[in-house]
Amino acid sequence: MNFLTLLSLISLGLSFPLNHTLPTTSPKVDKFQPKVFVVTMFSLEEEHWLQNVYFANNFTLPGLSPLYPMVHCTTDFDVCHVTTGEGEINAANTMMALLLNPLFDYSETFWLINGIAGGHPQEISYGSVTIAKYAVQVALQYEMSYNDIMADHKNWTSGYWSYGSDDPLAYPENVYGTEVFELNEKLRDKALEVAKSVEDQFVEGSERNIGLRKLYPSPANKKPFVKGCDVLTSDTYFSAKTLDDYFYNLTSVLTNGSATYCSTAQEDNASLEAFIRLAKSGVARYDRVIVMRSISDYAQPPSNFTDPVYWFNEYDQGGIQASLDNLFTAGFAIVEDILNNWDNYTEIQADNYLGDIFGTLGGKMDFGKESYVIH
Ligand SMILES: *[C@@H]1O[C@H](CO)[C@@H](O)[C@H](O)[C@H]1NC(C)=O
Ligand SMILES: *[C@@H]1O[C@H](CO)[C@@H](O)[C@H](O)[C@H]1NC(C)=O
Ligand SMILES: *[C@@H]1O[C@H](CO)[C@@H](O)[C@H](O)[C@H]1NC(C)=O
Ligand SMILES: *[C@@H]1O[C@H](CO)[C@@H](O)[C@H](O)[C@H]1NC(C)=O
Ligand SMILES: *[C@@H]1O[C@H](CO)[C@@H](O)[C@H](O)[C@H]1NC(C)=O
Ligand SMILES: *[C@@H]1O[C@H](CO)[C@@H](O)[C@H](O)[C@H]1NC(C)=O
Ligand SMILES: *[C@@H]1O[C@H](CO)[C@@H](O)[C@H](O)[C@H]1NC(C)=O
Ligand SMILES: *[C@@H]1O[C@H](CO)[C@@H](O)[C@H](O)[C@H]1NC(C)=O
Repeated sequence: MNFLTLLSLISLGLSFPLNHTLPTTSPKVDKFQPKVFVVTMFSLEEEHWLQNVYFANNFTLPGLSPLYPMVHCTTDFDVCHVTTGEGEINAANTMMALLLNPLFDYSETFWLINGIAGGHPQEISYGSVTIAKYAVQVALQYEMSYNDIMADHKNWTSGYWSYGSDDPLAYPENVYGTEVFELNEKLRDKALEVAKSVEDQFVEGSERNIGLRKLYPSPANKKPFVKGCDVLTSDTYFSAKTLDDYFYNLTSVLTNGSATYCSTAQEDNASLEAFIRLAKSGVARYDRVIVMRSISDYAQPPSNFTDPVYWFNEYDQGGIQASLDNLFTAGFAIVEDILNNWDNYTEIQADNYLGDIFGTLGGKMDFGKESYVIH
């Protein structure tokens, strides 16, 4: 009905119903109920999944990345896959669109975030697979060029410092709420156990990869292994010693010493924020999210390299294929294990705090502090 028709009806004295009662007798649509949803962030990460798993159902959904518009599902819809696109904005938008899509019922779904990341050499080696309990967003801070501040702040190591504070390693006085996410530790530990069972299938990589590890002290010189340790999110692709060490320290500050940064990427907090919001309304299970990152490079050069830009841009580290291979080996083992032992997985009850620094999902937060200013 257009506006003029409406006006003419009113002018004829016909009352327009203000109490709109919509029919509720639409046929009930059966929804897809994936058991595991695999989330990758870009083309190289998705390759192994698309080549090694037969996805009989491919379809576009509104709100996905223009580069990765399709969701892929197996014949029975037990396993599905999506690629978000890189960076926080792409991850948040894709996950929100996917989670809100009415074709799916996610009430039982496990989620495997399966990507590569930079590694902190104090904790991890190239090609290794990490699974996180905490995801911490760094660089969500003030920043000035170091050149502008170093004369007056001689003991600062970089231009970053936390909101509402006056020191780079002070606790932030105010937050946006996406700074720290804590995940289900029992599920994480189960996933670690499965990943460790396929550790002997990990590849060491090219000759250059093997040589690269030898430039670092332990544990960065070790053959690829599995470790439970935590992931950073930063849209800024930072690298080199000062920032890498600073964010390592800041991770500890932000989580009251609970989280240990070992991998750094550009999406996880953003995806987790979508999970938090929709877990709050019962759409998805936050306690069923696994965040796995394999190490595709080191976030700082070996200590005897003098030009980190040369090292970052031009030094041949031997490629990232081994990190992609090991990521899939460990990720696929977990998907298979969830399908084979479904009841065991659904019985896993978290006994640690779950959620963000706002306490959005309830419970008592075991990191952070009581008195943030929230803007
Ligand atoms: C709207 O209509 C329904 C169904 O007839 C009725 O139960 C309800 O009280 C009405 N609401 C209002 C605000 O008039
Ligand atoms: C779905 O997409 C994947 C990945 O591109 C492809 O391997 C598979 O054959 C497609 N499935 C069908 C039924 O076309
Ligand atoms: C990502 O999460 C971490 C920890 O949960 C948090 O410190 C960080 O600020 C978050 N980053 C973004 C971009 O939300
Ligand atoms: C820098 O020095 C000031 C004054 O001594 C001190 O309060 C602050 O904690 C130091 N900051 C760092 C990052 O070491
Ligand atoms: C750094 O040290 C490693 C291991 O001792 C050595 O192989 C490499 O050549 C050194 N690199 C530079 C740039 O000095
Ligand atoms: C990180 O913390 C260590 C140990 O407290 C300290 O020696 C180092 O200077 C810090 N580095 C940065 C960049 O904050
Ligand atoms: C799965 O649960 C069953 C029944 O509780 C138990 O017998 C079995 O050992 C469990 N399997 C694993 C892999 O934990
Ligand atoms: C931070 O850690 C300290 C020392 O372990 C502890 O006393 C305090 O309760 C923790 N704060 C929070 C908010 O958990």
